[in-house]
Amino acid sequence: MSLPVAVFASGSGSNLQAILDHHATLDAPPWRVQLVISDQEDARALRRAHRSGIRSRFLPVAGRSSGDVAAETLDILSSADIGFIALAGYLRLIPADVVEAFRERMVNIHPALLPAFGGKGMYGMRVHEAVLASGARLTGPTVHFVDEEYDRGPIVAQWPVSVRAGDDPHALAARVLRVEHLLYPRVVDHLSRALARGRRPTPFSPPGTAFLAKSQAGADVARSISAGFTGD
Ligand code: GRF
Repeated sequence: MSLPVAVFASGSGSNLQAILDHHATLDAPPWRVQLVISDQEDARALRRAHRSGIRSRFLPVAGRSSGDVAAETLDILSSADIGFIALAGYLRLIPADVVEAFRERMVNIHPALLPAFGGKGMYGMRVHEAVLASGARLTGPTVHFVDEEYDRGPIVAQWPVSVRAGDDPHALAARVLRVEHLLYPRVVDHLSRALARGRRPTPFSPPGTAFLAKSQAGADVARSISAGFTGD
């Protein structure tokens, strides 16, 4: 039996695609993406799901109470027997009842090194603009468990990406996104495997270096990332 995973996405869904592509390379993984949920009816992520033969569902959030959204979300998740959730560019706050039901079984990816450059309103280009404005020399994606606040839950993995002289927000966003596509599928795989085996998926501590040291997946990411950036 493989663990049914749901992906929530509001937009393009390139991280969803990276998860699906990575999954296809794995030998008998004990999990699968069973369902894709979006708050945007025309999200490209929904079309990607459709193309891959994955059930997709438009779940409107705008103008509804959090309780109402929570009830419908939990209903959909339980009827698909979902055991793990990956937020991939999902721009809505997850209702508290859903957070509670999926505590440490729901992750998000953010395109900066949290706890810096996160929180309400920090999404898309705003994140990269803020990183550049701060003069930070390092940025990079963070994967964290989801709690009741935007971008605040315990950190599972991070990967540093250099800020280069002459970067504009778009160049920086593209460099970080490439690393997201390497990191997120491997973290989803790592956590889903733990859950599929009935283990508690614990965050890596400290993030980043422990991720590298403790797992084959970490070593693979390091190799792909350095290969990907050679001569860049
Ligand atoms: C990514 O940069 C992710 O870190 C953030 O939203 C963006 C989603 O991109 N949460 P995509 O929809 O996966 O292409």
